[in-house]
Amino acid sequence: MEFPTTRLQRYRQKPQVRQLVSETSLEAHQLIQPLFVHEGLIEKRPIPALPGIYQHSFQSLMPELERLAESGVQSLLLFGVPKEKDELGSEAMAEEGVIQRTLELIRQNFPDFLLITDCCLCGYTSHGHCSLMNNKGMDHAGTLESLKSIALSHASRGADLIAPSGMIDGMVGAIRQALDAAGYSEKGIMSYSVKYASHFYGPFREAAGSKDAFKGDRKHHQLSYTQKREAIREALLDVSEGADFLMVKPALPYLDIIQQLRQTTLLPIVAYQVSGEYAMIKAAAASGMLDEHLAFEETLTSIRRAGADLIITYYAEQWCQSC
Ligand code: PBG
Repeated sequence: MEFPTTRLQRYRQKPQVRQLVSETSLEAHQLIQPLFVHEGLIEKRPIPALPGIYQHSFQSLMPELERLAESGVQSLLLFGVPKEKDELGSEAMAEEGVIQRTLELIRQNFPDFLLITDCCLCGYTSHGHCSLMNNKGMDHAGTLESLKSIALSHASRGADLIAPSGMIDGMVGAIRQALDAAGYSEKGIMSYSVKYASHFYGPFREAAGSKDAFKGDRKHHQLSYTQKREAIREALLDVSEGADFLMVKPALPYLDIIQQLRQTTLLPIVAYQVSGEYAMIKAAAASGMLDEHLAFEETLTSIRRAGADLIITYYAEQWCQSC
């Protein structure tokens, strides 16, 4: 049946009808808020490139968690900034490391949050690489051992999901084995399966304190943005190694990857709207070019429509507050 009998505008006349036929939802429980904790701070410190986002101290963490809980955000992705860095990234798995202490603090005071921890070395190594280095380059076997230790220390302090973010071959399988062997079979793995070597991570490196340590790029182990089939292979390998959630990162320039992955696997898909994506909208809004809430709502909904079940976004708390 064609026009004039069929008129799709009938679906759009009233807000109630638009809502009735809406194909894509955006809800607080689908959003994950990244949280930075810097163990060397007394007060929270703003991150200039990410307006509204802070590096928190242990003290400023508590009021922030209260605000987060009130806003309706349920899941947090934790990043730590250690006082000391060394060649081995020892603080990443230290008994009294910044994330270990943070996990304990949150578990004691706000037991209901779902806690996801970044499992990588780059924020903790003096050279800024996501791996251990030897004179030939990356020490692959050693790196996997370190990632296992980090994952176990996070699991033992109350993390729900471990999120290995270094795109190190075999990381998911190694962590799954280590968790199971230590009796943590209930802990899940949210793998950064498809992580592009992206220009859009710039502001994050400032937030995570890895900017000065690291001068190079990560093209030797992250995906090139020319690649699509290779991205799907990466994700399928993670599935076979035991990943529970697959992540695509960044989000908006990679909607085609999210969509293809949605059609290829049955696993939950997480998209990471990264620091550069957030900073762009914030900058445009600050200069009056865009309405911040509308721009975020549209991009976040597009990411959901492409096939992401969950979205990691610096705007999670603000979106929940402004609804
Ligand atoms: C590294 C890590 C990065 C991000 C999350 N985990 C940056 C990188 O690979 O350099 C980027 C997040 C963002 O830009 O918001 N472990």
